[in-house]
This record gives sequence, structure tokens and C-alpha cells, in this order.
Amino acid sequence: MMIIETLSTFPHMYDSVMGTSMMRIAQSKGILDFRAYDLRDWTHDRHRTTDDDPYGGGNGLVMKCEPIFEAFDAIVGEQANDSALPAPTVIFLSPCGRPFDEACVQELAIKERLLFVCGHYEGIDERAYSLADYVISLGDYVLTSGELASMVVIDAVVRKLDGVLGAEDGAACESFADGLLEYPQYTRPATYRGMDVPEVLLSGNHAKIEQWRHEQSLMRTARFRPDLLEKVELSASDLDFLQSLPDS
Ligand code: ADE
Repeated sequence: MMIIETLSTFPHMYDSVMGTSMMRIAQSKGILDFRAYDLRDWTHDRHRTTDDDPYGGGNGLVMKCEPIFEAFDAIVGEQANDSALPAPTVIFLSPCGRPFDEACVQELAIKERLLFVCGHYEGIDERAYSLADYVISLGDYVLTSGELASMVVIDAVVRKLDGVLGAEDGAACESFADGLLEYPQYTRPATYRGMDVPEVLLSGNHAKIEQWRHEQSLMRTARFRPDLLEKVELSASDLDFLQSLPDS
């Protein structure tokens, strides 16, 4: 069972995502143990303050490091209730982190325990990052909520855990599994509003279908993510196929 814990100022944000669909099923099957902690539980003033003005001036507030360190001690330190648990891999979410990708998902999916520390609005006092094993960015844009960013990472990791996806939903053919984008998918009806499902998919010829899917993956990747093609090993026939595509 993987343990995932989050430390943030709006722990209720997790209720809907973690209580629905696959994330709920992962917990009910005993594959995932999820706990969302409220950072305000480790503040000591009447207003339960977790942020303060930035040293050096500037706009906005900065998340204070003391509640984060105190929470960390309580959750994983010697005074933790359950010190028998494995030490967590600690993950901060920030636009200044490592870009999140499939390789990162794979690395995290084999850990026993993940602890996400989520900031809000602006930054977190830099000293808190000394606790981090990973700093992850979802991409080159800024979110207001670290919770939201952590939910994306949690979802991508949990769906990799054994038993979460059924065999038929398996992750084997999906985008990035072979370094390429996934081929297009269709289901009934065969014609809708004048749009036909490609003939080959109705042919029952599995070899032809496989070839068509692979070519579609190559085409899509060449069109939308040419950077990915640099990283995969292409066969001679893949290269011929790509050469044969019109430029656009
Ligand atoms: N928090 C705010 N923006 C973020 C981003 N792009 N990635 C991860 N965490 C964030």
C-alpha cells in the first residue's frame, strides 16, 4: 500500500478529487492510504497565520517556514504517532521545479510514502525547501494552488499502482508508454454527423490495425511533439514513413 500525505492550507480541496472515481477506488481497495493535513494546525496565533510579508519588500505574502517544519516533525519526525512508517519522499510543487513527466511519474510510483507540501498564491520561504526530495513543476504557467498541482501528480502516480486500473484499461498502449503520443481512438457509431471511423478499424485485420495505429502515433508525435521523436528509437521503416509525410 502506498501512503500519500499532503500538507497545505486548504486540505478540503482534496475531498472531491480523492473521493471520486479511481482515486476513491484505489483507497477502498487498500492500494492507497491518503491523508490531507492542515498546515494551520501547526500555527500558534489566534488567526492561524501561515504567511507573512516578504523580506526585501515586494508584493504579496510568503508562506512561513515554521509551520511547515513543525508539521514535518509531527508527521514524520521522532514525535510522529506512527514512527514505524517508512520515511516519506517529500515533494514540493513550484513553477521553479523539475518539469513533470512520465519518467518522474515512474520514479514516484515505486516509493512507499509520498508527502506533498503545497503552497498558495506566492512563494514559500526558501528555507522550507531544505526538506524537499523533489521540487516539481507542472509547466510554464502559474497556478494559485499547490493543492491543485499536487492532485495532478497524485492522480498520475496512483493510476500506475498495481490494481488501480483494470487489465483492459491497462496503461501499456497509452501516450508516452513507448515515447510517442497515443493513436486516435473511436467507438460506436461507425458514422456520426458525416464523420466516419477509419475503414481499417472495422476490417478486423489486426496486423493492419496495429500498423495503422503505429503510423498514427508517429504522425501525431511528428506534428504536435517533434521534440519527443528525438528521444525514441525509430526503426528504418518508421523513418521512411516519417519522410513520406507531407510537410505541414
Ligand atoms: N504552483 C503554482 N504554479 C505551479 C506549477 N506550474 N507547477 C507546480 N506547482 C505550481
